Amino acid sequence: MEGIGNDEAVIATNDDASACKKCAVSLGYWKDPYIGYFVRNCERRAPEINRGYFARITAIKIIVDKFIKVTGGRCQIVNIGAGFDTLYWRLKDEGQSVSNFVELDFPGVTSRKCMNIQRMKPLLKGVTHEDHDIKFNRNNLHTYDYKLTGVDLRNLSDVETKLKESDIVYDVPTLFLAECVLVYMTISKSSQLLKWINEKFKSAFFVNYEMVNLEDRFGEVMLSNLRTRGCDLAGAEACVSVDTQKDRFIAAGWSGAQGWDMLEVWNLLPPFDVSRVTQLEMLDEHELLKQLFSHYALVTAWTDERWESIVL
Ligand SMILES: C[S@@+](CC[C@H](N)C(=O)[O-])C[C@H]1O[C@@H](n2cnc3c(N)ncnc32)[C@H](O)[C@@H]1O
Repeated sequence: MEGIGNDEAVIATNDDASACKKCAVSLGYWKDPYIGYFVRNCERRAPEINRGYFARITAIKIIVDKFIKVTGGRCQIVNIGAGFDTLYWRLKDEGQSVSNFVELDFPGVTSRKCMNIQRMKPLLKGVTHEDHDIKFNRNNLHTYDYKLTGVDLRNLSDVETKLKESDIVYDVPTLFLAECVLVYMTISKSSQLLKWINEKFKSAFFVNYEMVNLEDRFGEVMLSNLRTRGCDLAGAEACVSVDTQKDRFIAAGWSGAQGWDMLEVWNLLPPFDVSRVTQLEMLDEHELLKQLFSHYALVTAWTDERWESIVL
């Protein structure tokens, strides 16, 4: 099913993810002074959910920061299905610059992000550069090194056009980030996108965070919960295991891939951070946390062996 109704339910997953992040941030799991500009209210989430978001955000931060360091900032980042992600502003605050940072999502999401950036001074300040104008319309916002663009990722020719308009070039190392995005596209559409990236970009590195083990009992419950919210996981076939997640890249022609489920990720995170966050909230349901962590994974893939050494 790829109808409009399903697209609306998919778009709503961004509101949920953003509210979860705001909740975890307000409890002290990590610092993000910007997420609150995109989400007004948030109900307190279960400690397992907060730890899950902490592990995901921390792991992605480690990988992205290493990529920027290895490339000396002479790189591009393309966040696909970016939602209200605030990674660009974090990098800015930390003085980590990249040549170009592009965010893609449905126009229904980017229009809201555009509006918030224009209205909220700290967000606007982050994308403002002396001597460079900010160009924006309803769904798109272009600045010197930040581009927010409305596009349906299933429409490859539109993606190509929008990336060109966003000044993306094919011969600079490029990190693609997708957090819970490919699963909403059919396998044929997501593999078309992965093949295209592999063919076009001289040196690409992909970071994919997504569900795994969807075929066991817990996975079935996750699937049916999403379906009752009108959200069909059209790409669930690639979410059977960490291996199926890696294989989708190899099948699309990428040189290599590696992956960790979130239980493994948790054990690889800096012990100091882990010890700090485990003291924030009491956790009664250790078994539930284990189940949750074994149903998400972080996979990296590369077209260039240089990125193979970027690990947690
Ligand atoms: C679960 S949210 C995750 C948002 C963000 N990556 C994060 O981690 O907070 C999934 C996002 O993917 C976007 N998305 C899914 N399918 C898409 C498509 N075909 N074209 C553009 N965006 C898409 C949704 O609109 C939504 O913002």
